[in-house]
Amino acid sequence: MKVLVIGAGNMGLTYAEGMSKSRLLKKKNIMVLDKSEVKLEELNQMDHFDAFEKLDDCVPEADIIFIAVKPYHAEALFKAIKPLVKPQQIIISIMAGVTIASIKEITGLEKIVRAMPNLPAQIGKGLTSYVISPEVSRIETLTVESLLDTTGKSIQVSNEQLIDASTGISGSGPAYVFYFMQSMMEAALQMGFSKNESTVLVSQTFSGAVELFNQSNLSPNSWMEKVASKGGTTRAALDSMDDNNISELIKEAAFAAFNRAVELGKEH
Ligand SMILES: NC(=O)c1ccc[n+]([C@@H]2O[C@H](COP(=O)([O-])OP(=O)(O)OC[C@H]3O[C@@H](n4cnc5c(N)ncnc54)[C@H](OP(=O)(O)O)[C@@H]3O)[C@@H](O)[C@H]2O)c1
Repeated sequence: MKVLVIGAGNMGLTYAEGMSKSRLLKKKNIMVLDKSEVKLEELNQMDHFDAFEKLDDCVPEADIIFIAVKPYHAEALFKAIKPLVKPQQIIISIMAGVTIASIKEITGLEKIVRAMPNLPAQIGKGLTSYVISPEVSRIETLTVESLLDTTGKSIQVSNEQLIDASTGISGSGPAYVFYFMQSMMEAALQMGFSKNESTVLVSQTFSGAVELFNQSNLSPNSWMEKVASKGGTTRAALDSMDDNNISELIKEAAFAAFNRAVELGKEH
């Protein structure tokens, strides 16, 4: 199996490197193409995949074509690859807002996977949600999933609306966590801790709590009940959050991202 990644930016390289490190594919079976000369020079210095600058030299060779360019480059790219593609080839697109119908229409291909990754993919801790067109077989889906899993975990969803929804949860989600961390660090600074102390206090608290959650079967609510005793310090903080309706505000923020993803999709 040969995989071609088109677009060697943050995300394209993340997947190319993930596939390479996983040893799922040999070096000669990972092809990476970019149109930027600077990127091509960088690619040529990396030795774990083959770099290409011309579509004609790599598109016909690929079993799976992984598209990682910005959405506004999609149309021109699809028009350029159309004369080179074969019906059995699978396209995996990670472009936000570009629908399966539009990819089918411009490329003429039928086997399409639309995926939505998130930033921690860069360190192998990503979450990619994906949806497939009905023409992708069960075996092909397993292959696609194993490629996506090289950057973390993946989940298959049943329709494209859930891809926009996952943008609101996992796609934009890392920024919500950073927002919470930033506020807690600011509180720590105001309490008198140094910047370094505030960073350690907050980052270890986050990773510890998440690890605790991951190693148990308890819901976040159950954990909150466990740590918050009546009249205690944690209860005081949680009551303050409830009084300020923080839970509803977080849900509203996630829906704002979801709605924006839907809007952006209509622009392509
Ligand atoms: N970053 C994220 O967290 C994230 C999350 C979810 C989804 N995504 C999606 O991932 C995609 C890639 O994002 P990114 O941040 O990695 O973008 P990026 O850093 O801009 O990388 C895209 C690369 O593709 C090149 N390119 C553009 N058109 C091309 C073409 N026709 N042929 C070959 N190469 C071409 C670009 O070159 P130039 O610079 O010369 O244009 C650039 O080097 C986007 O569609 C985005 O929606 C990103």
